Amino acid sequence: MIEDKILVLDFGSQYTQLIARRVRENNVYSEIFPFNASMQKIRDFGPKGIILSGSPSSVYAKGAPIPDMKIFELGIPILGICYGMQLMAHVLKGKVAKSLKREYGRAELIIDDDSDLFQGIGSSLVTRHSSLATVVWMSHGDRIEKFPAGFNSIAHTENSPIAAMSDKSRHFYALQFHPEVVHTEKGREIIKNFIFDICGCRPTWTMKSFIETEKERIRELVGNQRVVCGISGGVDSSVTAVLVHEAIGDALTCIFVDNGVLRQDEAKKVEQMLKKSFHMKIKYIDASERFLRKLKGVKDPERKRKIIGNEFIRVFEDEAMKIRNVTFLAQGTLYPDVIESTSFKGPSAMIKSHHNVGGLLKKMKLKLIEPLRELFKDEVRVLGHELGMPEETINRHPFPGPGLAIRCISDVTKERLEILRKADVIVLDEIKKAELYNKIWQVFAVLLPVKSVGVMGDERTYDNVIAVRAVTSVDGMTADWAQIPYDVLGRISNRIINEVKGVNRVVYDISSKPPSTIEWE
Ligand code: XMP
Repeated sequence: MIEDKILVLDFGSQYTQLIARRVRENNVYSEIFPFNASMQKIRDFGPKGIILSGSPSSVYAKGAPIPDMKIFELGIPILGICYGMQLMAHVLKGKVAKSLKREYGRAELIIDDDSDLFQGIGSSLVTRHSSLATVVWMSHGDRIEKFPAGFNSIAHTENSPIAAMSDKSRHFYALQFHPEVVHTEKGREIIKNFIFDICGCRPTWTMKSFIETEKERIRELVGNQRVVCGISGGVDSSVTAVLVHEAIGDALTCIFVDNGVLRQDEAKKVEQMLKKSFHMKIKYIDASERFLRKLKGVKDPERKRKIIGNEFIRVFEDEAMKIRNVTFLAQGTLYPDVIESTSFKGPSAMIKSHHNVGGLLKKMKLKLIEPLRELFKDEVRVLGHELGMPEETINRHPFPGPGLAIRCISDVTKERLEILRKADVIVLDEIKKAELYNKIWQVFAVLLPVKSVGVMGDERTYDNVIAVRAVTSVDGMTADWAQIPYDVLGRISNRIINEVKGVNRVVYDISSKPPSTIEWE
């Protein structure tokens, strides 16, 4: 049982997830609920404090998100951030108005009261004034004109006479700036002051405690029934499998489907890791011929995705049906997916992996076990580490469900896949040797559907072109092309042209996302 929790109410800010992560970094458990969550749900969660997120909305706009007013009667501390502050001013009968000057970016916050939320935050070095100050990150158009009853200013900036306010008797605090972003220099400390000193939380939520609680929960849930888990070699499915296996041992069967569009030695490596290091039961299904037959002559990327997704479900289903007494499907769903699907904005058009085998649940009457559904990606990595998994698996770059099929532009044939695989190995090898792998979100080779003229020895060649794609990113939603040093690019190009028969040209992709995507198809 987690006792000390912080609830984040989401009003649609792009930074909401960041708030929850900042809280969790301090070993205090935090969840995000949509702003209109019911009081029942909030009471059942039992938070020690609530944080109100920012929002693209203005409190005066039609349809502005307003939570149940009873949250202000729970008797627990509340921290409003940006829109959260304006909301508090508005509903607690202060006054909010459009700022004459909008405030975006860096601002100097002059601290007027450093007795609680801002304790230890200010420095006399930052300021031109004699008072304590710190650098914060602003992003707002509205501002507070009049305090709600009981509130006082605790900090100001040149443009905002009330940049932070508090009602100490009710433990309500509000900030015009964003403490959750890294540009607010003492943001982490401000959040710490709120959760520990003001809410009285204890830092008891650790990965060790999470593992123990989750193993117990899985054991109880499963009883003497059986669980099946589809593994792809990716970090999410592997960590799920290891955790469930720790809980129920051989009652778990993992199924690994070789869809014919995997990277070189992928299946072997995953099997080795899970079987040899963790002694798991793994069914390896070589369905490559079946997939490649279906993909023959298919050029359209979306059709490739659909074919691979549907075929995966069929193969997985056939195998899962063979296991007696199987009632559960373990899946590596992460917290961002859960937030997406329960958001008040409704599920967005996010790309889901084909391992989301929803159809199976109904047909086979399987129930879901999603042990990672409350974790962020970086927390899953810490969990994997804690479970003793190899760094190579934990830090592996994401690999799309449709695999090399969407990196083999146009036709997917065995011959073309072979060329791509060989080039891909070289790209990864050189990036690892240059110690760049862990600094990059994804790096891979793409086989283009064009041929170009070259000269090798005295002979004219007319061969394939490989594009190298490397991007930096935080979540895959936006990305920038990675500035790989020229000498590394040079080695990659040299080796591919020399070692991969059928390639005479290598190009480097310098497009960011948006407007391009990370994958080429
Ligand atoms: P894009 O190409 O949309 O990719 O910028 C964003 C991230 O998602 C991965 N990706 C997929 N993953 N099934 C998956 O499981 C898919 O169909 C798929 N398409 C793209 C991509 O590798 C990147 O990490």
